[in-house]
Amino acid sequence: MNAMDEAISKIGVVPVIKLNHPKKDAAPLAKALCAGGVPVAEVTFRAAGAEKAIQLMKEACPEMIVGAGTVTTTAHIDATVAAGGQFIVTPGFDPELVAYAQEKNIPVYPGCTTPTDYHAALKFGLEVLKFFPAEQSGGLAKIKAMSAPFPQFKVMPTGGISLKNLAEYISCPVIAACGGSYMVTADLIDNQKWDEIIALCRQSRTIVEEARHG
Ligand code: 3PG
Repeated sequence: MNAMDEAISKIGVVPVIKLNHPKKDAAPLAKALCAGGVPVAEVTFRAAGAEKAIQLMKEACPEMIVGAGTVTTTAHIDATVAAGGQFIVTPGFDPELVAYAQEKNIPVYPGCTTPTDYHAALKFGLEVLKFFPAEQSGGLAKIKAMSAPFPQFKVMPTGGISLKNLAEYISCPVIAACGGSYMVTADLIDNQKWDEIIALCRQSRTIVEEARHG
């Protein structure tokens, strides 16, 4: 795993964020995630202005790892790099986007859920993949089945992960980290429930630590 893979894996959970009002919410959200012990964010291009959110989150918490999600164009990658974003997540496997991110020297985690995806990822020398949408694609059982022929990969499942199944997922050695929006829902962000976000992050970190170290 590269340094970014290691840093994300150490935290164990990655909030997947859609920020509708970056100017208002990016800085307090970044501070809440850091206060909750989860200094990492995947800021998705599902909302316009994702690059602004990335920039503002980095400014508010420079020690935090901030990357981009739902990246579907090379322009998204350029905007992420210009904003100081540190990793790229794509929903599926698009070889053009993976090659472009690698050319720009920014770590990339493409969404992969099939043997064909994993074959493609091998050709790019990737070691950590996003497994998306996790629950809907077969969940932990599929992740384990895929790991038999492809033991070289670790995955970051997202899609359907919550406090209810986080322990089960993160206990699996194939899993580098779990992504999810449960600690950064629209309700929590739009109503600026920063204390609740901090609490959910802390609970998540406790689950990760207990699963890994008992
Ligand atoms: C993602 O893009 O990673 C997912 O939409 C997050 O899934 P969740 O909302 O089910 O956590």
